[in-house]
Amino acid sequence: MEKKNIDWANLGFTYIETDKRFVAHYQDGAWDDGELVEDSNVVINECAGVLQYCQACFEGMKAYTTEDGRIVTFRPDLNAQRMADSAARLEMPVFPVERFVDAVVQTVRANSAYVPPYGSGATLYVRPYMFGSSPVIGVKPADEYQFRILTTPVGPYFKGGVKPLTICVSDFDRAAPHGTGHIKAGLNYAMSLHPVMEAHRNGYDENMYLDAATRTKVEETGGANFLFVTGDNTVVTPKSGSILPSITRRSLMYVAEHYLGLKVEEREVYLEEVNDFAECGLCGTAAVISPVGKIVDHGREIVFPSGMAEMGPVTKKLYETLTGIQMGRIEAPEGWLKVI
Ligand code: PLP
Ligand code: COI
Repeated sequence: MEKKNIDWANLGFTYIETDKRFVAHYQDGAWDDGELVEDSNVVINECAGVLQYCQACFEGMKAYTTEDGRIVTFRPDLNAQRMADSAARLEMPVFPVERFVDAVVQTVRANSAYVPPYGSGATLYVRPYMFGSSPVIGVKPADEYQFRILTTPVGPYFKGGVKPLTICVSDFDRAAPHGTGHIKAGLNYAMSLHPVMEAHRNGYDENMYLDAATRTKVEETGGANFLFVTGDNTVVTPKSGSILPSITRRSLMYVAEHYLGLKVEEREVYLEEVNDFAECGLCGTAAVISPVGKIVDHGREIVFPSGMAEMGPVTKKLYETLTGIQMGRIEAPEGWLKVI
C-alpha cells in the first residue's frame, strides 16, 4: 500500500488522525463482533461511567516496518493479558485475549499506509482502550462498555531523541500499596498530570516516584519503568506490586540475560543506592529505552558516570538489541513478533 505523505523523521509523540479505528460494544452481558469505522468521534451519554467516575483503562504498543518490509507488532498478547488484568480490577468486562490480538491486526492492517517506513525512526503507535459508556450516577460499574483501538504515527516520546534525561524525585505519590499502580487505569495518569507539569516547570523531564508507604524505594516514572546497570554490568530493575509491569522491561531483562549474557536482578531498589549505579534508563513502549543522565533528590544531584552526553554502553547495547529484534534485524524469540 502506498504510504501517506508524512514527514516521518520529524514526528513527535502527538496524535495524528488515521483512516480507521476498531470499535466493539459490550451490551446485555456480551461483546458484539466489532468493526472498523471511519468516524474518529465517540458519542456517549453525558453520565457515562468514564466521564463521571473514570472507569477506563488502556494499552500501548507499536507497529514496525521490518528491514525486509513486513509490518509487525511486538508481543501484543502481553498487552491483551495486561488489559484483561486492568479490566478485572476496574470491574469491567474482559475483552478476550485472542480477539484483542485479532483486532490489533485488523486495525494496523487497515492503517498500513500510516506505518512509518523502515529506518525512518518513527513507528505506528497502537492504543487499545476501554471505557464505561452507559450512564451511572451512584458509584457503581457501568452496564455497557466500548473497546476501541486507535492508531497514530509517532516519533520519540522525549524531545531530543536519545539525549539523556534529568529526573527529579517527586514529593507526590503515584500509587498506593494496594491501589491501582499495577494496572493501566486512566486514573493513574490523570493524577500524574500535576506532578509532571510541576517537574517540567522546575526544569526536569520526568518524575521518579517512590513507594508511598516508606518513601525509600524506587518505583517508576509516570510512563515508564526504571532500569539500572551496576559497575560490573548487572542489569537491575525495581520490583514492586504498585508499578506497571512493563512489557518492554520484561523483554529487556530477557534480552540482557539471553542475548547479551548479562546478570539480571529484579529486586527492591533503594533510593540510597541509586548513587552506586553506573547507568540508568527509562523503559517502555513510548520511551523504548531513554537514558537518564541525572537524578535530583531535593537538591542532591546523582550524576551517573555514563553522563549527560550519550547513552551508557550497556543501555546502548540493550537498545540496539531490542530495536534490532523489533525491526527484524536480529532474530526474535519465538512468539515475540506478530506479523500483520
Ligand atoms: N509504566 C507506566 C506507568 C506506563 O504507562 C508504561 C507504558 O505503557 C510503562 C511503565 C511501560 O510499559 P510497556 O513497556 O508495557 O509499554
Ligand atoms: C506507553 O509507553 O505505551 C504508554 O502508554 C506510556 C504513555 C505515558 C505514553
